[in-house]
Amino acid sequence: MAAFFRLSTRLLLLILPTAFLHGQTLPASPTSPHLVRNNGATELSVDGHPFLIRGGELGNSSASSMAYMKPIWPRLVSMHLNTVIAPVYWELLEPTEGAFDYTLLDALIAGARQYHLKLVLLWFGTWKNSMSCYVPAWMKTDEQRFPRATNSAGRPEEIITPFSTQALAADKKAFSALLRHVKAIDAQQHTVLMIQVENEIGMLPEARDHSPLANEAFKDPVPKELIDYLTSHRDSLEPELKQRWDSMGNPTSGTWVDVFGKSLATDELFMAWYFGSYVETIARAGKSIYDLPLYVNAALNAPGKKPGEYPSAGPLPHVLDVWKAAAPDIDFLAPDFYNPDFRYWADRYSRKDNVLFVPEHRFEPGVDAKALYAYGHYQAIGFSPFSIESTPRPENEPIGKCYDIISQLAAQISAAKQRRSIDAVLLSKDADTTRLEMGDYKLTAIHELRLGWSPGSKNTRWPLSGAIIIGLAPDEFYIAGTGVVVTFEPKTEGGRAGILFAEEGRFVDGKWQPGRRMNGDQDHQGRHIRIPEGEYSIQRVKLYTYH
Ligand code: DGJ
Repeated sequence: MAAFFRLSTRLLLLILPTAFLHGQTLPASPTSPHLVRNNGATELSVDGHPFLIRGGELGNSSASSMAYMKPIWPRLVSMHLNTVIAPVYWELLEPTEGAFDYTLLDALIAGARQYHLKLVLLWFGTWKNSMSCYVPAWMKTDEQRFPRATNSAGRPEEIITPFSTQALAADKKAFSALLRHVKAIDAQQHTVLMIQVENEIGMLPEARDHSPLANEAFKDPVPKELIDYLTSHRDSLEPELKQRWDSMGNPTSGTWVDVFGKSLATDELFMAWYFGSYVETIARAGKSIYDLPLYVNAALNAPGKKPGEYPSAGPLPHVLDVWKAAAPDIDFLAPDFYNPDFRYWADRYSRKDNVLFVPEHRFEPGVDAKALYAYGHYQAIGFSPFSIESTPRPENEPIGKCYDIISQLAAQISAAKQRRSIDAVLLSKDADTTRLEMGDYKLTAIHELRLGWSPGSKNTRWPLSGAIIIGLAPDEFYIAGTGVVVTFEPKTEGGRAGILFAEEGRFVDGKWQPGRRMNGDQDHQGRHIRIPEGEYSIQRVKLYTYH
């Protein structure tokens, strides 16, 4: 939490003594990557400037071979990425206990620098998608020292139990070595922006670990830190947790069963606390060496399933508060999207104490429109399709066209956040209209295929479309995206909105360069702004009101 509320770099010098008094962690240096919360918006600051991550996550194995990566780098650049999300594999970092091999990491960082890309590193440590598949062989084969989680029948899983103090010590040591090395080679250049701690932690195939160590811990009282958090956040707790605690009469002491009742949901809360605490120990150690933003990602559960049937107890929305209480050194918790209902999940991860970052989205049609929506509506600090290198034609990828727009608009987006005059729309065949207000006008955005002007409008399925809308002045807007038509009405009664001018353009070196004037067929003779489906552009429009 402390890290999340760090103040802007400009204010930093002024507040130094106070920050120390309050025990806040400060960034490694004012220019090193850190989160800044300003005027209600959280941004990633790099080298003293806001940085919007136009990301792509590599498939799991790509970064284990730099020869394999060689042809990939230029493809990423051609999609206008500025950041690659890439794993660091514990088994390759510490093949022999205590002997660290940084060759691969060094080459990854060198590769990114050669292509002017930044990196978010994924620590494939104790857990990767629930399993302990990336722990070194010396750990896998020493079950005495590194015991496994077991199911209720005592059958071990290839999941190291979070109750193992030896596993925790080993992970902490390796993660610390990683941070020490990154600091040594990158504290000046800031190629590495953030680190994800573990990957998609989750308990399977039952909601809780039934190993002897876990069973002992389950008899312990609920830790005071969690009770304190519940008490001080009583009104803002996520609904599932609030309901559970309320239904027990809000006890402030007792075992997990006393406080939350006997259920699979309680088993999941218990595991969330211990997974979160394990991660916290690693994160705190890492931050004390090199204070980079750290986050944890979640495999979103399929609705309707019971705890244990999905990877349970990771930082899912219904246990988010437990993670916040257990892991205060984690800057934010992040959703991985492989399921529908983008808005529902993104809403749940957008909290005052949690900025939205999408480290993984299935690389599928529509990902471009969702990226626009994430940046514009949720003010996400970044977005990233998974297995980004898998496209055969990177130069044609919609995400690349959308990233080109985001790259041009980055400074505008940041400034608009401060003015609170930015939003976005995400449109589909079923939800083809969105209304919003900005400046002096009411805007109505519809899916461009709704006009019925293109043959695609007759198709049963329409591609998702979307746009970012930035208010430049009360009567002037940038509309950037694909497949949208926007009409305008004045907020005040009695007048009608007219288009004073509409122009397409590009930002070059941060300056708007007008291209085509769009005041004839392109804006339907002054009736609307239109970006056809399949095209990606930025238009600037100035309005007036006539009576
Ligand atoms: C989510 C995981 O976090 C990734 O590492 C990868 O396994 C994908 N799922 C595969 O779809």
